[in-house]
Amino acid sequence: MIDDPSYDPEDVAALFDRCAGNYRWWSNVSSFGFVERWRKAAVRQIPSDNPETIVDLMAGTGEAWPHILARYPDAKVTAIDISHQMHLHALDVLHKERADKITHIEANALTTPLPDSIADVVFSTFGLKTFNPEQHVILAGQVARLLKDGGAFSMIEASDPKGWILRPFYRFYMDRVIPLVEKIFLKGAEDFSMVGPYSKRFGGCDGIADALRAEGLEVQINRHFFGCATSVSGRKPVA
Ligand SMILES: C[S@@+](CC[C@H](N)C(=O)[O-])C[C@H]1O[C@@H](n2cnc3c(N)ncnc32)[C@H](O)[C@@H]1O
Repeated sequence: MIDDPSYDPEDVAALFDRCAGNYRWWSNVSSFGFVERWRKAAVRQIPSDNPETIVDLMAGTGEAWPHILARYPDAKVTAIDISHQMHLHALDVLHKERADKITHIEANALTTPLPDSIADVVFSTFGLKTFNPEQHVILAGQVARLLKDGGAFSMIEASDPKGWILRPFYRFYMDRVIPLVEKIFLKGAEDFSMVGPYSKRFGGCDGIADALRAEGLEVQINRHFFGCATSVSGRKPVA
């Protein structure tokens, strides 16, 4: 198992380019459907009633959009992702019927070309773990910059359930079983297996929560299923 994940945006983009074709089914199956529950939870906990512009950071193949648009049918989503192939799969394969609602931008979320105060909501599912703590500070700055005054955010990520009595089984599954299954079914690839080392290094949302607070945002942190995922949500106060 690769235990030293890269935080270089080019490496991360290349990793997700390789994963794009199998991303949807693999993430659902390998998580026993939990990713879908957690995406819905992230949408539910957005503290906003009728946003017009939602910026989905690290949007990937747009797995969260059906849930976002179910809650906010009139909203427009701006999808930021660094991986060309993840955008292509979102656009060509999965979401043709939602095309008028989604603007795709292939960009690094740490240096987006979007103007200040564009978003009523900044949203993200499972895009935090491939950043290191220094990058989380930059990302928090971007969230604060993109949000309008009074805007809301919600972000969720797979985490390391420290202190949970069943954590050894969870780690065995993430660190041993997933890599083995991937090797067998995806011809020796070690791409999806990186979720283990990335989420272990990530730990949980405490670091990004501190970074968001340092940007002046109001932040609430939540744990999901014994800490196997953690999330942050809150608001940018009205100046
Ligand atoms: C695990 S996927 C999550 C996709 C989707 N949000 C979901 O719920 O399934 C992480 C995504 O983050 C994107 N990503 C990683 N680093 C990025 C960066 N610096 N800027 C923009 N996107 C990035 C990857 O390309 C990938 O599509």
